[in-house]
Amino acid sequence: MDARSKLSHAAQRAEELRAELQRHEHLYYVLDAPEISDAAYDARMNELKALEAQYPELVTPDSPTQRVGGKPAAGFAKAQHSRPMLSLDNAYSPEELADWDRRVRELAGGLPVAYMAELKLDGLSVALRYEVAAHGGARLAMGITRGDGQTGEDVTSNIRTIRSVPLSITAEQLKKAGMPPTFEVRGEAVMSAAAFARLNEEREQQGLPPAVNPRNAAAGTLRTLEPGIVAQRRLDFYAYFLLVEGEYLAAGQQATLDALATMGFRVNPNRKLLHTVEQMTEFINTAEAERDGLGYEIDGVVLKVDGHATQQRLGYTGRAPRWAIAYKFTAKSGVTRVHDITVQVGRTGKLTPVAELEPVFIGGTTVSRATLHNADFIERLGLLVGDWVKVERGGDVIPKVVEVLEDAEHPRGKRHFHFPVQCPECGSDVVRAEGEVDYRCVNADCPAKLRESLLHFGRRGVMNIEGLGDAVVQQLLERGMVHGVADLYKLTVPQLAGLERFAEKSATALVEQIERSKKAGLARVLMGLGIRFVGERTAELLAEEFGSVDALMAANAEELERVEEVGPRISQAILEFFAQEKNRRLVEHLREAGVDMTAEKKQRSVQLAGLTFVLTGTLPNMTRDEAKEKIEGAGGKTAGSVSKKTSYVVAGEEAGSKLDKARELKIPVLDEAGLLRMLEGGTVEP
Ligand code: IVH
Repeated sequence: MDARSKLSHAAQRAEELRAELQRHEHLYYVLDAPEISDAAYDARMNELKALEAQYPELVTPDSPTQRVGGKPAAGFAKAQHSRPMLSLDNAYSPEELADWDRRVRELAGGLPVAYMAELKLDGLSVALRYEVAAHGGARLAMGITRGDGQTGEDVTSNIRTIRSVPLSITAEQLKKAGMPPTFEVRGEAVMSAAAFARLNEEREQQGLPPAVNPRNAAAGTLRTLEPGIVAQRRLDFYAYFLLVEGEYLAAGQQATLDALATMGFRVNPNRKLLHTVEQMTEFINTAEAERDGLGYEIDGVVLKVDGHATQQRLGYTGRAPRWAIAYKFTAKSGVTRVHDITVQVGRTGKLTPVAELEPVFIGGTTVSRATLHNADFIERLGLLVGDWVKVERGGDVIPKVVEVLEDAEHPRGKRHFHFPVQCPECGSDVVRAEGEVDYRCVNADCPAKLRESLLHFGRRGVMNIEGLGDAVVQQLLERGMVHGVADLYKLTVPQLAGLERFAEKSATALVEQIERSKKAGLARVLMGLGIRFVGERTAELLAEEFGSVDALMAANAEELERVEEVGPRISQAILEFFAQEKNRRLVEHLREAGVDMTAEKKQRSVQLAGLTFVLTGTLPNMTRDEAKEKIEGAGGKTAGSVSKKTSYVVAGEEAGSKLDKARELKIPVLDEAGLLRMLEGGTVEP
């Protein structure tokens, strides 16, 4: 094959791969209905990357490979909105909603009135511009934040990393949706609860204060100058508006959402066309009831008049359309005073400052304490004892102080808070290690550590011992009934029945719970042990990798760091933990008590672990895709170009410059049969 036809071959294959990847991304990220395995997806992606590396002229801006990999930006350019991004007027009660409905009907002057009800996602609005692409469809040209509504920031490279944003739309999809190739989509970028939890777990591991809420985290992420980081954070995008030449679709809001879905955008499935205030109230009540189970935050329901003609008749006030309203749920934030700042000692001896609040009712519960994380956080807030503060509470998230208020109604407090130099529980010295934000009690036997360890051990998500709360633990300690978590397994019904507010029945229930926890498995036990930096995800990965506590305890740093997401910091913490005699004893005691400390080991092939292969030419019996899947399935890596890091080059018919390069660098070359032998675990003599 000459160079020219090779290129055209490659171009064709790249095009195929792009279409396929795009389809699978849509299935996975928008429809939640994947058809192929992650490994198979990765194999296709790697093949495309390799092709594009070999023929850079084939790279298109809308290629799925271009989601990540953008270079860090020096800053963001300003971009003018095609038409102002307005905000919405709010309603807080069914009465206000009924008022709005009455006004809409009056102003509509007989034009039909129906309402599209949508969830009000708590993220940030962005505008996406699509332009006609070379393939006759549309491609993402620019993504802009809301900014002040007139001008936003061009955050295109970050928007590209959001998997639910289509980078390109085929001519066929456009046709089906009845859309021209140039248009603008508006919608909400959000961070899911899972992504938010992961982010905060990571931040904790890095010794950083947690992000306050998913909205702030999403906003911060979109304004990050490094697209690689944005890609890891996994934002989502839900589309809700479509503009063609600066105008909303004549067919109305319902048709708009359908057209968006047809083009491959993620459109929130919780939407409904409604006609009466009663129907709207019912939709709102259902949304509020289901709010915590959605997996992302919402703060209300948006109601939009459906028909475009009616919308135009209703028009706009200065800042918002008259044809839409946001029904806001009861506030999840409140304003209150900090009457004191106290310090709590955790199970690792870490001292956490806590704001003692005048009780305030927020989103269904009374809040009287909120974490202040660490000394730096207090400093950043500029918080004084006596200050008025705004407190927020999201989903199942713990209350947080987000801002100090200062105005005529909210005069500033007076007293500065000084971090204690002695542990409030045992009076030992408190130290702050170099480079760390936290202060810790130096006393290994600080009673607070034992109390918190017991509470942690029993917690939901850890060993799940229902009934092992504050009051019980306090009594167990005061009466000297437990001296460590393993002692829990020695407790008997008669012993527990003697505790305050305990009877035979509750004692039996607790003993049963403790008994049941023996089967929680290795990951839970690892979390229960309270090893620094080992949160839920890390514990699961470690359990999968090592399969037993003994194997884990025998591992060295290098072996530990082979586990995904385990770096030197975590491996060090694990080694230090098991290096301590008392921790090894604890493991022994748990074993003696009959606690299961094994896990199903993930069957991961290691045949080719640590080896990198480059494929070139046509193999006699396998496609390159298949070869790649096989190599990766056996733990090996594949790369697109030959370098000193390449372990083997697998060459088929008509292998070209890569083979020359391999010879030049003296890299062993295999044929298909050689590769197969290696996969079977045989030795290879290239
Ligand atoms: S419509 C002029 N629909 O809420 C139209 N907004 O309080 C304004 N939001 O800035 C947008 N979910 O960031 C609309 N389904 C939804 C929404 C939504 C969340 C946000 C959006 C807007 C803010 C207005």
